[in-house]
Amino acid sequence: MSMIVVTVVGARPQFVKAAVVSRALRATATVSEILVHTGQHYDPGMSDVFFSQLGIAPPAYNLEIGSLSHGAQTGRMLERIEGILQETTPDWVVVYGDTNSTLAGALAAAKLHVPVAHVEAGLRSFNRAMPEEVNRVLTDHLSTVLFTPTEAAVNNLGAEGIPRERVTEVGDVMYDAALYYSAQALDMPSPVAPFGVAAGEYVLATVHRAENTDVPARLTTIAGALRRLAAQRPVVVPLHPRTVSALERGGLLEGLKADCVIMEPVSYLAMVRLEKEAAVIVTDSGGVQKEAFFHGVPCVTLRDETEWVELLECGANRLAPPRDEATILDGVRQALEDGSPKVREELYGGGKAAVRIANRLAAGL
Ligand code: UD1
Ligand code: UDP
Repeated sequence: MSMIVVTVVGARPQFVKAAVVSRALRATATVSEILVHTGQHYDPGMSDVFFSQLGIAPPAYNLEIGSLSHGAQTGRMLERIEGILQETTPDWVVVYGDTNSTLAGALAAAKLHVPVAHVEAGLRSFNRAMPEEVNRVLTDHLSTVLFTPTEAAVNNLGAEGIPRERVTEVGDVMYDAALYYSAQALDMPSPVAPFGVAAGEYVLATVHRAENTDVPARLTTIAGALRRLAAQRPVVVPLHPRTVSALERGGLLEGLKADCVIMEPVSYLAMVRLEKEAAVIVTDSGGVQKEAFFHGVPCVTLRDETEWVELLECGANRLAPPRDEATILDGVRQALEDGSPKVREELYGGGKAAVRIANRLAAGL
């Protein structure tokens, strides 16, 4: 039985996740995939580089929606995806994570009675002020099959009354990606060598969450803490374009550039290389928190809570809510003291998540 799957992606982490699932879908030989890129991310360094580097087929449709307010962005995606689903009549729509592209894809499909498969289902921060929390709760409740990355995610869905038979714990596709691409990342030239920064000595930091970029006091605290850390060891920061704008608005960018190694967003392989060779990672990214663990690097999370609770429980990660600089500096000191976390591969599915997803989709409803 052959199947048509429409995959909807649009933001940087979704390209990484889709790369490994698409490869597994191709291996089934019975599934044909139609890739839709919403254009939520569009800078070459936020989009094209992932397609070329990770061998993702060019999207069949690029909606080029771009940056808009939440309602306008999601609404325009919804309308365009609806048209594509009417044209392609797929057996499944696959969506990833918790972005506006995820919700638009799931909602368009559900209204047309096309079964939705949600990869990375069941994550919760229990903080509805986050746009991602709204997107993931709604997407989960629209989905026919919910592929969860962790046991905590399975429990969250149970607590919301989602029938257990719809939920399949497959593990985390980002762990599959980390395993698959690690060797290639180590073959790359070091992205920090040109800055005179050595492997093993630097802090790697990323910041892009709305709750940090759009709240001036939090952004000022983060920038201040990174500058103080830079007095002790190099601090390397590949900056999301959202954060560049926010730092410029707050008059914080020049000071940060004076003390830290500030970079454009880097490719996935360059990022993996940076992660593997960092002494400690400081981030508000969901993906980067886990990648720190996959690559055995201690992590400090610049948030009030995290969806990846198992990493707090096993001591690989710790929260440092960016309310004051001292909390962040203490978090980093603690992380360096605790050192390398032990990779426990059973926590995230052992690298088989994509194959499990592809097999389930190939089996049909
Ligand atoms: C989005 C997701 C977030 C995810 C992140 C991954 C939502 C609500 N948020 O956040 O969950 O963690 O992607 O990176 O879907 N911009 C550019 N060039 C680009 C893309 C963005 O300049 O290629 C700038 C624009 O000023 C834009 C801003 O970044 O307004 C925010 O982009 P947007 O896609 O709305 O949200 P992210 O912060 O990227
Ligand atoms: N990433 C990247 N280049 C960068 C920053 C991040 O390739 O400059 C990768 C990172 O390794 C991970 C994914 O992008 O695989 C995480 O995306 P992001 O932090 O934007 O979003 P989140 O995971 O928080 O939704």
